[in-house]
Amino acid sequence: MKNMVYIQSGGPTSVINSSLYGAFKEAVRHPDLIDHIYGSINGIEGLIEGKLFDLREEDPHDIELLIQTPGAALGTTRRKLPKDIKDPVYMQIVHNLMKFSIKYVFINGGNDSMDTCNKIAQLCDEMNLDIQVIGVPKTIDNDLACTDHTLGYASAAKAVINSIYAISKDALCYKEGKIHIVEVMGRNAGWLTAASDLVPEDGHPDLIYLPENKFDVEEFLKDIKDIKERKGYGIVVISEGIKFERDTKNAAVDSFGHVQLAGACTELARIIESRLGIKTRVVELSLLQRANPFLLSRNDRDEAIEVGERSVTAALEGKTGQMVVMKRVSNEPYIARFELVPLGDVANAEQTLPKEFMQDKTRMSDAFRAYLKPLIQGNIHLIYKDGIVELTNFKKKVIK
Ligand code: F6P
Repeated sequence: MKNMVYIQSGGPTSVINSSLYGAFKEAVRHPDLIDHIYGSINGIEGLIEGKLFDLREEDPHDIELLIQTPGAALGTTRRKLPKDIKDPVYMQIVHNLMKFSIKYVFINGGNDSMDTCNKIAQLCDEMNLDIQVIGVPKTIDNDLACTDHTLGYASAAKAVINSIYAISKDALCYKEGKIHIVEVMGRNAGWLTAASDLVPEDGHPDLIYLPENKFDVEEFLKDIKDIKERKGYGIVVISEGIKFERDTKNAAVDSFGHVQLAGACTELARIIESRLGIKTRVVELSLLQRANPFLLSRNDRDEAIEVGERSVTAALEGKTGQMVVMKRVSNEPYIARFELVPLGDVANAEQTLPKEFMQDKTRMSDAFRAYLKPLIQGNIHLIYKDGIVELTNFKKKVIK
């Protein structure tokens, strides 16, 4: 008996389940090589605790809905595995790999999750286990090394661009308007915030602040005053990760040591109102950036499905300790080819927005626009029931 286990890890995206769909579909094409297709409940924790369920036992309609379902349908985690491979938790993992006759392990995540994936690959190698371990890239932050982009970034970018464009129409309809501060996710990398530069001119943000650049509160206030005097209203897009004096001592921290951000827009609005007496409105795009089936990029979804399929193909070819990446060949027409890179090159590395993609605090460069434009192309026709979008709801019957 040769089974596979699929693990979703870290923050979800709008297309993380599309990669699961691709992997599932590819696996069922090889009944001679793969028997059970297990989903691990809540990321690596499912494998540690022996909480797996069989995806073949789920309603086929729920499988089909994966490609329009955001969130992690299997459940996810931010749990970090210990450095020491002799830690008892690894013995627990090995025990369950044996117990469930696992031959193929897939971990779908960002840079922290590739650290987990790398550790599992090393563990299997050191213990001479005949198990293939493959990484499947995802994160709306687009900060993974070795790949042109990550799956989920383009759909999140499309959600950011279209949301800000729509907001701009509301923001400018009053004679005497407000300063709107829109907060975008992305921790230390400004890729997603930079996407707001693709908002058309009639709604284009006045200022765009990335975490890669120094943020000076005094200069910011000067710019806000100027915008208000010149236009009467303004739209400012900030990354959740911009660095300025703010109180994070009560903020939650995950096991990788990342402070749970969010709230920078509220803090800046408070500063503007108290120092300048200018009315503000804060818009924290929050989960609607990464859990938004209505603004999916077809390109992103199709690539997510294909990478899921390719990860299974790679494992069946005997590859292990590698992650599937995309290398761009051209922008127009958009062509990317798929390759494999060692997990060690990706684990914990962070790819921030390169200097050549930035212009100034109001614009990104033409090169950035040329980079992002093809990624957000194509729309999706969703399945609705009684006016409500249909989403996957797995039963997750735990295997004994
Ligand atoms: O996974 C990336 C991300 O979406 C970041 O952009 C954000 O800072 C973080 O996750 C939020 O994570 P959580 O939802 O676990 O608080």
